[in-house]
Amino acid sequence: MRIKQMSSYLPEMVVTNLDLEKRLDTSDEWITKRTGIKSRYVAEESIEQMAISAVKDIDIRNVDCIIVTTMSNLDVAPSLSSKVASHYGLSNCMCFDLNAACTGYVYGMITANSLLNTVDFKQVLVINCEKMSNIVDSNDRSTAILFGDAAVATLFEKTNEPSLSGVYYKSVADQNDLVCNKGEMLTMNGQSVFKFATKAICDAIESSLEKANLNVGEIDYFVFHQANKRIIDSAVRKYKLNKEKVISNIERVANTSSASVGLALSEVNLKDGDRAMLIGFGAGLAYGSVIYTHKENNEFI
Ligand code: ACO
Repeated sequence: MRIKQMSSYLPEMVVTNLDLEKRLDTSDEWITKRTGIKSRYVAEESIEQMAISAVKDIDIRNVDCIIVTTMSNLDVAPSLSSKVASHYGLSNCMCFDLNAACTGYVYGMITANSLLNTVDFKQVLVINCEKMSNIVDSNDRSTAILFGDAAVATLFEKTNEPSLSGVYYKSVADQNDLVCNKGEMLTMNGQSVFKFATKAICDAIESSLEKANLNVGEIDYFVFHQANKRIIDSAVRKYKLNKEKVISNIERVANTSSASVGLALSEVNLKDGDRAMLIGFGAGLAYGSVIYTHKENNEFI
């Protein structure tokens, strides 16, 4: 498969660290130093509206399947994907939602690839849609500073050549209490998740490269989940990554959970043959990585 088109949606309202400083026991200095975040977007519109807006620039008339990845949709049914299909008048497509928290972009991509290879589908649309403000307590400084709202859509189409290599995934299920939302607001054991994330990112990099038989120098872009700049920097230091190849927008958008990797990827101008390593990690605990090789034109015959 290949990425045919991407499009993103950011709400209008920007909340800066200075705004948070006014109502929480925190400071711009603390947030910047500990996370690298300066601002985040907060949606006044519904999560459904966000998902619909994310695809407004994409021609979705021929999609065979819509997958929405989300951990912040408060309604179990109908699925967000069905709502998007209904809004755009699409009746002949498979619709379902997928919750893999911050690993959602990577797992959504793997799922799209599997469907394009096993079912007679030509196009799969994946929307990563998070209204984290639905599940984050705006008065809890330990989480309110970290998350932002965003949606991103990727249209995948079937091609003749494979584009995914180094597919790697893992669950650390005995630590699933570290990030929780048991019908209330999100809670997170920040320090423990930080330790998990720094290890997970290294395991993912090394395992994906080994599986794909590639080395660090053969990757054109590293797109890691934007959870904390210090987590990204730890990988940059360890593998001596060229900073220009490491895509980061955490400063502007904060942690947007399953939208995070896609949102960062949408800021890259992928050219024919470019290889991007994508890594997601988070609640579950779960993590996963893939190496995506872009093809400009590779129509399925
Ligand atoms: N402002 C000011 N002080 C704060 C704030 C705040 N917003 N939050 C916590 N503090 C205080 C704490 O109370 C503590 O004070 P103390 O020393 O007096 O006890 C001190 O700052 C240090 O707190 P720590 O929790 O140790 O701070 P840390 O450096 O670990 O940073 C953070 C916290 C940013 C949450 C970090 O642990 C982190 O990024 N963790 C990983 C997050 C992640 O990767 N998430 C991905 C999954 S998310 C998902 O799946 C939905």
